[in-house]
Amino acid sequence: MFSQILLFTINLLPANVGHFLCCLIKSIPVLKDFLPSPQQEPVTFSNRKGLQCISPLMRSVEETPQPILTKVKGHIPKWLNGSLLRNGPGKFEFGEEKFNHWFDGMALLHQFQLENGIVTYRSKFLQSDSYVTNSRHNRIVVSEFGTLAMPDPCKSIFGRFISWFEMPRPTDNCSVNYVVYKGDYYVSTETNFMRKVDPETLETKEKVDWSKFVVVNGATAHPHYEPDGTAYNMGNSYGKHGSSYSIIRIPPQNSNRDDMLQGAKVLCSIAPAEKMKPSYYHSFGMSENYVVFIEQPIKINLCRVITSKFLGKPIADGINWEPQYKTRFHVVNKHTGELLPGQFYSKPFATFHQINAFEDQGCVVLDLCCQDDGGSLHIYQLQNLRKAGEGLDQIYNSTARAFPRRFVLPLNVDSSVPVGQNLSPLSYTSASAVKEVDGTVWCMHENLHSEDLEEVGGLEFPQINYSRCNGRKYRFFYGCGFRHLVGDSLIKMDTETKKMKIWQEDGFYPSEPVFVPVPKATAEDSGVILSVVVTPLQNQNTFLLVLDAETFSELGRAEVPVQMPYGFHGVFVPR
Ligand SMILES: [Fe+2]
Repeated sequence: MFSQILLFTINLLPANVGHFLCCLIKSIPVLKDFLPSPQQEPVTFSNRKGLQCISPLMRSVEETPQPILTKVKGHIPKWLNGSLLRNGPGKFEFGEEKFNHWFDGMALLHQFQLENGIVTYRSKFLQSDSYVTNSRHNRIVVSEFGTLAMPDPCKSIFGRFISWFEMPRPTDNCSVNYVVYKGDYYVSTETNFMRKVDPETLETKEKVDWSKFVVVNGATAHPHYEPDGTAYNMGNSYGKHGSSYSIIRIPPQNSNRDDMLQGAKVLCSIAPAEKMKPSYYHSFGMSENYVVFIEQPIKINLCRVITSKFLGKPIADGINWEPQYKTRFHVVNKHTGELLPGQFYSKPFATFHQINAFEDQGCVVLDLCCQDDGGSLHIYQLQNLRKAGEGLDQIYNSTARAFPRRFVLPLNVDSSVPVGQNLSPLSYTSASAVKEVDGTVWCMHENLHSEDLEEVGGLEFPQINYSRCNGRKYRFFYGCGFRHLVGDSLIKMDTETKKMKIWQEDGFYPSEPVFVPVPKATAEDSGVILSVVVTPLQNQNTFLLVLDAETFSELGRAEVPVQMPYGFHGVFVPR
């Protein structure tokens, strides 16, 4: 997402030099960033004290390229055959140069292979161009989201000066997630580049450029899938007239082994509220017939991004929480590409991950994790995550917690609908959608939790029984509780009773829970939850945790004598 904006500017600038200069002049006030800024009172969202230092979870590690046997305690079900693939940062410096932001670390691919109750582990660094080039030069050559690469010190003074005016190339450090298109596995970040990988060997394969197949400059790392393999994703398109949000459909079948994303199409383009200030988004919702895009007040200031290198700032500095904007929901018909005329708004909130969306009685019901403050992108700088003592407590307490919320978006909002009336006919939710005088619809959420979720720090990294429930009515979702800056518990939430079940062990930090259904399951929660649990304690082991998804009790764990950093997302590949 971030570097792709710079790619766009290469095309944009020659045709818009005047506009560029205008932007540059407008951006001059940001020069104040070079001056000491007045101290601002940190906002406090919670009041925790004595947080454990998790610095070892954000340190570089060695890869484990050959599979090693884990020590299984308890019982790993024999039916559970396949691989849990996980992605996340695993190297945070090259030579003397260090990355600034957690998201900048080089992608380390993890694989837990499960077969007849036996578990092996291996990991390999993604051999991205970014990783290979940085390694070869033993310094950071490719800019990442929060780190601006410095000019080559071996260049002449003139060469170094000129390089400040060059656009950084987008990174292919695909550290966020695994995605599947046409049956092939890729790792993804949010730029225009993905890397194909072999899910068996973790070998890095072809580099794929979204913009070669469809007019977008990148895509999210959270596509949605139909049961037949059709995939949907979203990306921004940048052109001479500014930006637009594009919804993309990728067909399910490979016509031949080399066609990659051939056949991908932009289904719908949505104009941002401000063309030079589109919203940042990390994912989107999908029901059976609709895609729901949430335009949130985390804004990408394109003028700031265009001038970021010139100003010596990373791209991250051009992205900010601007709560003077409301959050807006856009609903698109998946079959026709039609953008529905209803204008749905809510109070400003930030969201990174949707939980699920489904249709009921002429409405789309959308469940997602929401924060009332969207400043957390900047909080996750490595210097913050590596703090200890009061400094760490302060960082945590200034980060808004994420809570699961339900919104209802009525699909038919015509002129005959009365102003001031709640348009939601759904008796099971208190979420409302009220038509305003100006014809817009004001949406109020329902909390998808009880007060006890606040005690475990809210919930993020939501997952569901995807193959059975995505786009359909459902009951259970799973996630991490956040009594720390990373997940420190696993939660199962019942959307009907709002009761939850929790797994937690002091000093251990579980990753995003992945649901795997038991073969021929009848119940929605009939299956297991897989989570990789890491610890900063040097005398304790990392382990793959297997929970019974119904009872949330531990079935077994597979201990690995290898330190791992805290990661982002993963998938289970059944065999
Ligand atoms: Fe994500």
